[in-house]
Order: sequence, then structure tokens, then C-alpha cells
Amino acid sequence: MSAEFVAPKGIPDYYPPASADFLAVRETLSEAAHRAGYGHIELPVFEDTALFARGVGESTDVVSKEMYTFADRGGRSVTLRPEGTAGVMRAVIQHGLDRGQLPVKVSYAGPFFRYERPQAGRYRQLQQVGVEAIGVDDPALDAEVIAVADEGYRRLGLTGYRLELTSLGDDTCRPQYRQVLQEFLLNLDLDEPTRDRARINPLRVLDDKRPEVKEMTAGAPLMIDHLSDSARDHFAAVRRHLDRLGVAYELNPRLVRGLDYYTKTTFEFVHDGLGAQSGIGGGGRYDGLMRQIGGKQDLSGIGFGIGVDRTVLALAAEGVSVAGRGRVQVYGVPLGEAAKGELVALAGRLREAGISVDLSYGDRGIKGAMKAADRSGAAIALVLGENELAERTIELKDLATGDQVKVGLDEVLTELSARLRG
Ligand code: HAM
Repeated sequence: MSAEFVAPKGIPDYYPPASADFLAVRETLSEAAHRAGYGHIELPVFEDTALFARGVGESTDVVSKEMYTFADRGGRSVTLRPEGTAGVMRAVIQHGLDRGQLPVKVSYAGPFFRYERPQAGRYRQLQQVGVEAIGVDDPALDAEVIAVADEGYRRLGLTGYRLELTSLGDDTCRPQYRQVLQEFLLNLDLDEPTRDRARINPLRVLDDKRPEVKEMTAGAPLMIDHLSDSARDHFAAVRRHLDRLGVAYELNPRLVRGLDYYTKTTFEFVHDGLGAQSGIGGGGRYDGLMRQIGGKQDLSGIGFGIGVDRTVLALAAEGVSVAGRGRVQVYGVPLGEAAKGELVALAGRLREAGISVDLSYGDRGIKGAMKAADRSGAAIALVLGENELAERTIELKDLATGDQVKVGLDEVLTELSARLRG
């Protein structure tokens, strides 16, 4: 029989044991950011709808089709955040962080919401770890942001991904390029909706996946060939810094991102083991965003958002488990009520000493309890029966080898510490 309540369509649950991988991915990526000086920022899950409309861009799919927008009880239009960059910029402006030391370097982790058609690796509630560095326009910072993402993936043990890189130019060259591209596109035999798109946001047409459109746009002019001197110099410097950092990349001059705010350096991490939803993370520079959402200054910014869900899937596709085997290190098996009382207290002392411990609860027989010990993934089982209790000892069983030794109840902490360290 199907359950009466299920999670909303397209929204994943993470529960043990698989949730351990999810958590390990989120933590490893966040740690990579913290090691490079990005401080944690915690922002609201919903904001004023206009923030995203103006920040992310009205013509993007994210804003025009995918936002969870509703009126709150006071009649204000609010939207579940579809991404993190606009909210960070809003917070920087609101709290005057841009008047302090620059760049403002922050990282975040949490859920984002997009009403997309659900499929493998595409969810309506997606999880990201992101960073933003705001206030300094330095190619070395672009390279740092990219290297932080790359380091996070590598530390997780991920290998089958590549970094695609391009420059989307800036105010001084993008408008001219846009016109050149638009003229090219409007001379093609495109259907009416696509021509409309070419009029509103011509770059998006280069991202069209239909073979006939791809063929027609194969010879389209590319931004990378129309960069201003300063955008070209910036991009060359980013590449030199990436080389110094040992971060490999491929140039993809046709890279198109789903959000409108990008300028200059733009990138995407792609994993080939994931099918259609191959983007495991992406980002870039957004030099006009602050103005766009009402900032008095026009500070530049650069950042990334890594898809935690897709990174978990990529690791699974490569057969890598990051969370290790067990939920706990030690599993206690009491035989009888008196033994249970003793083990409950012992578990408390062991946890205080930093050892993770679970116990067999309820009235399981020894067989059931030992099976549970195996399933827990613990390295060691502690078995306490009435006889051992009477002589103040306990059986310590290595669950990998099956070896068993008896130790005094007073020595168990020392013995476990030595074994778990080794
Ligand atoms: P984004 O490319 O839209 O960028 O999203 C970043 C990552 O989130 C994607 O590469 C993908 O891994 C994951 N993602 C996006 N949508 C879904 C989905 N429906 N299901 C599962 N995963 C998904 C941004 O959001 C920018 N704010 C990144 C950024 C930060 N740029 C500059 N700073």
C-alpha cells in the first residue's frame, strides 16, 4: 500500500546510511572554502521576489519559469531562493559589509528551490555549497575561487570531472558582441520562439540543445573573439594563475550559464558519469550585480555554487564512498537488565571521551544484537553478560577479524582508545 504522505514531487530525502555521504560532501566542500578564508554566512531561505527577478534576470528560465513565488500573509510577494548570489549581495549591501575590509569572502550551504521538471540529478529542492568574494576585481581571486572548488572535489576523491572555462566579456565589449550575435541569429531560419529568444537574450540560443539549431549556430560569432583589451588581459591572467595553481581546465567559448549576471570569467565543472544533468558546479564573475539590486557602489564579485546532490551522485558513479563504513565506532551488546544498566553508563563515559557508541536496545537475543552490531558498521562490539558483570570484565570483539578478548571494565576506555587510534 502506498503511504498517505510522501515528500513533494522532485524533492529528495537523505536518510542513513546514505545521508552520511551527503553530509561528508557538504562538510568537505565547506572546509575547502574555510581554509581559503571564506567565513560562513547564513541567509534566509526566502526573500523579496524582486531581488531575484532583478538580480538573476527576468529573461532567465530560473526567474520566468522556475521560481516558487507566493504571497505571504501580509500580501508581500516572496520567493524561495533559487540561488545564493543575489541574497549574499543583498546582505552585503544591507549590512554595509562593503565598507569593511575587501574582498568580503563568504561561504554558504543549504537548500535552493527551482520548479524544474524532476529527473535524475535534477531536483526541485537542490543543495549547494557556495562561495562569494566581493569587492576586488583581481584575476588572482577568480583563480582562487575556482581552485577552492577544485580542491573540494579532489579532497572528496572525485576524479572524473573537467573544468570548462570562458570569458563572457564586460560592459565595454558585451553590448557590441550581443548585437553582432543577434544579427547573425536573426539571419538564420529559426522558428519564431527561438527568434524571440535571440531578440531578448541571444546568448541563450547558443545553448539550444536541438541538433538542427546547433548545426545552424555552429559558425556563430563567439564572445571570446570579441573581448575588449581589459577583459582579454583579465582572462589571460586568470589562466596563468590557474596554471600556477595546477588546476587543469578546457576552454569552452560556447559555455552559457543559466543566470544573467555573469561577466568576464565564467566556468562550469562537468562530470561525465551523470547523464544529462552533468553540471556538478559552476560560477563566475558578476561585476554589475550590486548596482542591479540597488547598491550605491558597483563592486565586482566572483563566486561558485556546487551542487551537493550531484556531487554525491558523481561520487557514487565513481564508486567512491566518502563517509567511511560505520555510523559508530563501538556497538554495545548487553545481555540482561543489569548488564544494560552498566553499558548505558559506560556508553555515556565513552562518548564523553570522544568515542562514538551505539547500543542494542529492546529485548534482542544475542544473535539479533550481534547482527545489529555488524550492520552498524562499528569496528568493535562490547558484549556484557551476567558473568562478566560479576567479575567486572567485558568481552571486546573485533568485528572485522572476529577476535575476542576479555578486558577489565575499568580498562575498557584505554583499550578502545588504543585500538581505535591504531
Ligand atoms: P547554477 O549553475 O545555477 O549557479 O547552480 C550551481 C549548481 O547547482 C549546478 O552546477 C548544479 O550542480 C546544481 N543545481 C542547479 N540546479 C539544480 C537542480 N535542479 N537539481 C540539482 N542540482 C542543481 C548558481 O546557482 C550560482 N548562484 C552560482 C554562483 C555563485 N555564481 C557566482 N556565485
